[in-house]
Amino acid sequence: MAKIAVIGSLSIDLVVSADKRPQAGETVLGNSFETVPGGKGANQAVAAAWLGAEVIMIGRVGNDSFGNVILENLKANQVKTQYVEPVTHARSGTAHITLAEGDNSIVVVKGANDFTTPEYVRKAETAIRDADVVLIQCEVPDETVEYTADLCERLGVPLLLNPAPARPISKDVIARSAFITPNEHEYKILFDSADRSEVLRKYPNKLIITEGKKGVRFFNGEKEMVIPGVTMPVVDTTGAGDTFNAAFAVAIAEGKSIENTLEFANLAAALSVTKFGAQSGMPTMDEVQRSKQG
Ligand code: RIB
Ligand code: NA
Repeated sequence: MAKIAVIGSLSIDLVVSADKRPQAGETVLGNSFETVPGGKGANQAVAAAWLGAEVIMIGRVGNDSFGNVILENLKANQVKTQYVEPVTHARSGTAHITLAEGDNSIVVVKGANDFTTPEYVRKAETAIRDADVVLIQCEVPDETVEYTADLCERLGVPLLLNPAPARPISKDVIARSAFITPNEHEYKILFDSADRSEVLRKYPNKLIITEGKKGVRFFNGEKEMVIPGVTMPVVDTTGAGDTFNAAFAVAIAEGKSIENTLEFANLAAALSVTKFGAQSGMPTMDEVQRSKQG
């Protein structure tokens, strides 16, 4: 069984859907409102668990009702929560999501996720050492991403860094990560306007650029490769990136080749968009395999 440790955010997603996104100063009427579990870290943890991995989550919630919902949801999805400690003086993270005009826009309030500090991560060192792959994203403090990259290198555990939401990351942290998975926008923030093929060649089998429906691009040591995306009927793309990263981690932990891993991750991500909400639609291993044959 693949063992995955996820260091990252836990949130409640407050999702409104509307026909149109309001401009500054404008009010529009929406169609519906839902609250569902989210946060990139928790989404990745739940996706990895659905794919059959043994998953431990390292992160923080607020000491509020959202915090309880987040914890109960992790437990119900077989994610280990002993390193998800409530913070007494902060609110649970929230993501304020608008679904309109066929796409989402999101404001994230990190709240308790800011207390996933390097000191806090250090407490989970044994669990991190024990993992086959560690996953981290950018909804926790910068220092935590830096510390984790350091720690994983020292422990010899591969780190998959999902640089989302977009922000600059030091070359040191990139060097210490086993994999980094920006989308096109995040790629630009990380590497400026530098020639993409040249940058890809610098990070063979490490830099994986996700390009939505077009697929994913990487350099395999000999040539630039594109693993085409899979198209499914879209209900909600929120969490598709998280499903991709989780599936990537699980397949790598199981010893699959990078190409097979990316095909698998593309398929898992495609399945996840067919249902509303970040965590609904996340497929089981069986579902991914069946949709491959079918
Ligand atoms: O990646 C999707 C997630 O990002 C959502 O669940 C929301 O919490 C945002 O932070
Ligand atoms: Na979904």
